Order: sequence, then structure tokens, then C-alpha cells
Amino acid sequence: MSVMPADQASRLRDLMNARPAVATAPLPRPEARPVAAARPAGFSRTAKIIAIASGKGGVGKTNIAVNLAIALAHAGRSVVLVDADLGTANADLLLDAPAPYDLSHVIRGKRTIDEVTITLDSGPRFIRGASGLSSAADLDTFERERLVDQLARLERQTDFILLDCGAGISRNVAAFAQAADELLLVTTPEPTALTDAYALVKVLAHSGHLPSLGLVVNQAASIREAQLVADRIAAVAERFLGLSLESRGHILRDQHVARAVRQRTPFVLAYPRCPAAACIAALARRVDSPSPDRPDRPSFFGRVLGLFY
Ligand SMILES: Nc1ncnc2c1ncn2[C@@H]1O[C@H](COP(=O)(O)OP(=O)(O)O)[C@@H](O)[C@H]1O
Ligand SMILES: [Mg+2]
Repeated sequence: MSVMPADQASRLRDLMNARPAVATAPLPRPEARPVAAARPAGFSRTAKIIAIASGKGGVGKTNIAVNLAIALAHAGRSVVLVDADLGTANADLLLDAPAPYDLSHVIRGKRTIDEVTITLDSGPRFIRGASGLSSAADLDTFERERLVDQLARLERQTDFILLDCGAGISRNVAAFAQAADELLLVTTPEPTALTDAYALVKVLAHSGHLPSLGLVVNQAASIREAQLVADRIAAVAERFLGLSLESRGHILRDQHVARAVRQRTPFVLAYPRCPAAACIAALARRVDSPSPDRPDRPSFFGRVLGLFY
């Protein structure tokens, strides 16, 4: 989905083609809006929450989420991977982990969060995405409260929560992104993926508070290509949105990825010495670096669901 006005798409294109920057006044820096939900009494959190998002589908979010979760678990961290794509959840297919229950069972009060969380042989815990729900906005008040209450338990139990978000701009993605500690924006070097990634950041920036933004260039032909792409999109985000978009790394284009997908085995397990697996290891090290204290941040899930009240 692309919602970028033609003038901005062409600005990005200009920069991508390394032409001189167009002399256009930068957009004003978006104001951070206060989050809607009050911090429920007694909520505390320790987990670092990372939302993995992209403008366009098929750029590699699920592969990055799954393999990053496994790499972090192998580094000794406790990790919960949540398939947060409420419309078209499919991380379970990549993991070949047919969990009997998913988030919809929690929402409907049929199961607790612990009952829908499975522990993968490779280390991370995994929560299958809700099937049969078009949007979290469809939830009624009781369902939301139940989900908040259940998901908030995770925050106290784990080091990392990775959210594999749906592609593009939706209310769910905006809510997850705004509530996370870090948004990992995944793009490929393709112009369509880049323009859609920029469009997503732009919409998110104007829709409220944003977490720190990290960029991962996937399917890069070389480190140099990844750096060029990262530099260009960061320059555009800085210039037109006043946002800092830091490179968190890249994943090289690697035929082992598609091969592992066909085998329904994460590539870090199927081909641990492949180039993409080495890139995931580097990404995991960066993600696992200490982050600044977040003493005043309210509970993540409390805020996410608060956005829908
Ligand atoms: N680094 C890579 N190298 C080669 N192919 C890749 C790479 N990353 C992803 N792919 C291909 O892209 C497909 C879509 O990836 P996926 O993680 O499902 O994307 P998304 O979750 O963003 O829709 C994969 O099945 C794989 O074939
Ligand atoms: Mg996906």
C-alpha cells in the first residue's frame, strides 16, 4: 500500500538517484502526542519491545523476526516472538510450529496467554497470530481488557518481545509501532519497497509518538548497496520529517533464505553458516546492546490497547 503523495515520492526518487536535493522546505517536525492510556497501577516492565514493520509486504519481515528471535535466544536471552499480523498471520508456517491456539483464543477468553504460548525447540517462545480477526479495533471493551491483562504478563517475564507486524499502514501497526521501544523498519533496495517504507514512517510520524527507528536493508546485493540505501532513506527522513532513522544493519540476498523457507526451517538453523545467518547474528548483537532507561514508559500493551479506547 502506498499513501505517499506524488511530490514526496518524487523527492525520494530524486535522492535515490543521487541527484542534488530538491529545494523544498522541510516538513515541520511532528509533535509527539501524549499516549491515550494511563499507566495502570502496579504495571512494571522489563522487556525490550521491538516492532518489525515494513511499508510493503514480502520484504522479509517474518524471516527477520523469526531468525532474530532464535539468534537472541541462542545468545541466552529470553524472547517471545508474537505474530502480530492480525490479518494475515503466517510466522507459524515458517516455523513449522502448528500451535493449537492463538491470540484470538486469548481475546475471546478461551485461553490464557501462557496456554497459547509455545516454546520452540530453538529457544524462543512463540505466540501465533490471531486468525479470524480483521483488526484489533473490532475488539470490544471486555476483550481489550482481557488482552491487556494477559499480554502485560509477558512484559514481566522476558528480555525481548518481537512483534512481527503486518505490512503497510494500519491502525494495528501504528499502535504497535508507537508503543514499542524500537521500530525495525525493513526494506529491500527496490524503489517500491523504499518509497513504501518512507510512506510508513511518514504516516507514523504524524500519527503520534514514535519509538527509536532502526532500519534493516534486506536482500542487499552487497554491504555497499545496503549502506547506500540506508544513507539515502535516512537523509530523506531527516530532511523531510526531521526523524533520525539509524541503520541497524543489513541482510544480504542469499538463496539459502528461500531454500530454508521451503523447508519450513528458519535459515539460521538450516544453514547456520550462510551469509544471511551471519547478518542476523550481527543484527542480534546490535539489538541486544544496552538501551537507555525507560523509567517513565507505561506498560507497552496497556498503551497499545489504550489507543483503541
Ligand atoms: N535475505 C534474503 N535473501 C533472499 N531471499 C529473501 C531474503 N529475505 C527474504 N527473502 C524472500 O522473500 C520472501 C518473503 O519473506 P517474508 O519474510 O515472508 O516477508 P514479509 O514477512 O515481509 O512479507 C521469502 O520467502 C524469501 O523467499
Ligand atoms: Mg510476514
